[in-house]
Amino acid sequence: MGNISKDYVQEYIRASLVPSEGILKGMEDYARENRVPIVQPEVARLLEVLIKGFKSKRILEVGTAIGYSAIVMAKAAGDGCKVVSVEIDRDMVERARCNIKAAGLENVIEVIEGDALAVLEKLDGRFDLVFLDGAKGHYGEMLGTILDLLAPGGALVCDNVLFRGMVASDSLVKRRKITIVKRMRRFLENITRHPLLDTAIVPIGDGVSVSVKGGTKGEQG
Ligand SMILES: C[S@@+](CC[C@H](N)C(=O)[O-])C[C@H]1O[C@@H](n2cnc3c(N)ncnc32)[C@H](O)[C@@H]1O
Repeated sequence: MGNISKDYVQEYIRASLVPSEGILKGMEDYARENRVPIVQPEVARLLEVLIKGFKSKRILEVGTAIGYSAIVMAKAAGDGCKVVSVEIDRDMVERARCNIKAAGLENVIEVIEGDALAVLEKLDGRFDLVFLDGAKGHYGEMLGTILDLLAPGGALVCDNVLFRGMVASDSLVKRRKITIVKRMRRFLENITRHPLLDTAIVPIGDGVSVSVKGGTKGEQG
């Protein structure tokens, strides 16, 4: 497994989750067989809980892949929601659109093809929840734009922030991953100290950060 939590803990958590059915189950099988990195089951559950808890209706995602997490989030957000998801890889975009149509969510989830660094700059409006799951070395570059797009009280959720444990321990760092690790450490330092954010780092999956915009930092009481 991924160096984040003990194997027996992860196995226990996974065994406790209700397995997916229907299209989501089919997408999980496809992702496993074709080595497409979709969110791990415990991270999918965390997203669902956050979306229901925050009552998020306008959701932005960076990194669609085959559309799995976009569908999970749209189902959790329910009636009247809108999910905008950005993906750079054309084949992924096509597959995601196909899956989204099969899930009957084509009027709810919009997949935008392009480099998120450029696409986000052009987006209008405010989002209640942003899920960052694109290239791991680019989280920091997008933070300013994402904070502008995030509504006050909105949540920023970032996947893979502990990056196979390498972010937490130099002894695990692979030489060719040094730049990503350094960038991710800087990103985590930034979001944990940012005056507009209250942030928790949760050691599930490959590490997930959850931040709320407009927290209480710097305020009395
Ligand atoms: C981990 S996968 C996303 C998985 C998806 N969120 C899920 O759980 O179903 C990361 C995706 O980000 C995409 N990506 C990488 N860099 C990107 C960028 N600069 N802009 C948009 N998408 C990007 C990759 O092509 C890949 O499909």
